[in-house]
Parts: sequence; structure tokens; C-alpha cells
Amino acid sequence: MSVSIWVNLHVLASLLSLLGFITRGVWMLSESPMLAKKPVKILPHVIDTVLLVTALLAAYIIYWSDGVNPDFITAKIVGLLVYIGLGLVALKLGKTKGVRASAWILAIVVFIYIAAMSVSKSVIFA
Ligand code: HEM
Repeated sequence: MSVSIWVNLHVLASLLSLLGFITRGVWMLSESPMLAKKPVKILPHVIDTVLLVTALLAAYIIYWSDGVNPDFITAKIVGLLVYIGLGLVALKLGKTKGVRASAWILAIVVFIYIAAMSVSKSVIFA
């Protein structure tokens, strides 16, 4: 199977992940009951699993199977872990609204940085 299908799915999942995260952050700040709904709790896990599995598949096919691991791929993995951690603080662990809102904005900044590295295929996207 062509690698482009995994990359396309990966890009789609990453866009849905960001869109879902922004939406849940708005609901968190406005204390919306939407956050407690079952689909709102489950869907992000499904999307993030697709994001990660397609990322690993694409990385294996394009790079790792040739014994190559570019720096920006390592940086993307670290970035994804930071994004997940900040997301947890924003939507679950943060004790005050200020902490949650700050973590939410930082997570979005980290996400944009990861996307910029992805497109430029470089850690500093210069
Ligand atoms: C929030 C996290 C992530 C975002 C927003 C993201 C975003 C993107 C985007 C936009 C592309 C398309 C780039 C282009 O073709 O111009 C892409 C491609 C790709 N991503 Fe990700 N990605 C994320 C996480 C990861 C992780 C953790 C890995 C590695 C395990 C990964 C591996 C790849 C690979 C191998 C490609 C194919 C393009 C290439 O590097 O040659 N991504 N990603």
C-alpha cells in the first residue's frame, strides 16, 4: 500500500485533533456541559490513536525501514508528548482556570510548531 494514504490520514487526524482540542478548550473555559458528553470524551482518543498509528507507520515506511531517523522526527515525537501533557493539564489536571487556559494556549502553540516542522521537514523550520 502506498505511503501517501498513511500520510494523508495522518494529516487529517492531526487537523481533527487540533480542531477537537480547540473546541474542548472553549467548552472548558465556558464551563459547558458538552465536555461531559460521552462522544466528546471518547472521540479524541480515537482520533489521537489514528494520529499516532499513522505517524509510526509513515515514519517506518519512509525513514526507519532504511535505518534513518531525521532530527525533526525525534522532535515531533517529543513535541507530541509535550502536546499530550499540556492537553491533560488544560482539560483535566489544571487546578485553576488560569492554569488550564495557559496550558491550552501553550498546547496549541506546540501543535503549530510540530505542524511547521512537518511541512519544512526541519527542526527550526527555517
Ligand atoms: C501533533 C503531532 C503531529 C502533527 C500536527 C503532524 C503533522 C504532520 C503534517 C502536517 C504532515 C504533512 C507534511 C507534508 O507532507 O508537507 C506530517 C507528515 C508526517 N509526519 Fe507528522 N505530525 C505529528 C506527529 C508525528 C509524529 C509523532 C511522527 C513520528 C512518529 C510523525 C511522522 C510523520 C511522517 C513520517 C510524515 C511524512 C512526511 C515526511 O516526514 O516525509 N508525525 N505530519
